[in-house]
Amino acid sequence: MRSTTSNSALPDTSLKEPTEPLTLAPQHIAIIMDGNGRWARERGLPRRDGHRAGAESLREILEACIETGVSHLTVYAFSSENWNRPPEEIKALMSLLEHFLKEKTHEMMQRNVKLTSIGRTDMLPKKTRKQLHLAEEKTANNTKLTLNLALSYGSREEIVDAARQIAQKAAEGRIQPEDIDNNTISAHLYTAGTPDPDLLIRTSGELRLSNFMLWQISYAEIVISEKYWPEFRKAEFHQALDTYRSRHRRFGAL
Ligand code: FPP
Repeated sequence: MRSTTSNSALPDTSLKEPTEPLTLAPQHIAIIMDGNGRWARERGLPRRDGHRAGAESLREILEACIETGVSHLTVYAFSSENWNRPPEEIKALMSLLEHFLKEKTHEMMQRNVKLTSIGRTDMLPKKTRKQLHLAEEKTANNTKLTLNLALSYGSREEIVDAARQIAQKAAEGRIQPEDIDNNTISAHLYTAGTPDPDLLIRTSGELRLSNFMLWQISYAEIVISEKYWPEFRKAEFHQALDTYRSRHRRFGAL
């Protein structure tokens, strides 16, 4: 087992044996849910139907995570770039999100799931914000799994926000520039206090990170699924886990 104190660049997850195949479920899975629009277009349906089917996939994958023992699931539900979509599509996505939160809170209470969010959520419509805060408040003490919604989220914006906070502390003399290290940055991101993702899944075959958790996924295994997100269900999820387990994570070491 490698020491975690010898190199501050190593994440806490390096406690796992790096050269053995992984047998455990990843602790934290991050997902770029992509392909709702293409799924709908291929079926001659409006894009909002693709998003609706995508919400069904999210329900199923949440259940699969609970069954598998995953403790954190972060999904890219609305990026900072998504504000550039047509107003009707933004409206449909917000209404879907409100519906999901309203419908799911009871179940999340029953299944001990905590809901959190990351991103500039103050930009969301008032009604959506209200529903989000209600769900976050209600599920705050749940402990089995954390479902983290990235909403109005952009990783560069997150790093900018962290840099501003750290600079402010430095200007006030509360932190010395030479004391700033990896942990300082991590502690000022929206994800402060959560383990970094072990596995990043992107659907629809795209090979891009799209401004998603750029700092946090430094050591994550990346699995790309050719399926569109609405087709990504339990079977595809378990396939991604099998791929993850077949990898050897070295964190840069031999
Ligand atoms: C990408 O597909 C997906 C999104 C922009 C939004 C993800 C939203 C959902 C899965 C809906 C449900 C979410 C919640 C939290 C209830 P795309 O529209 O970019 O697809 P395309 O690239 O094929 O056009």
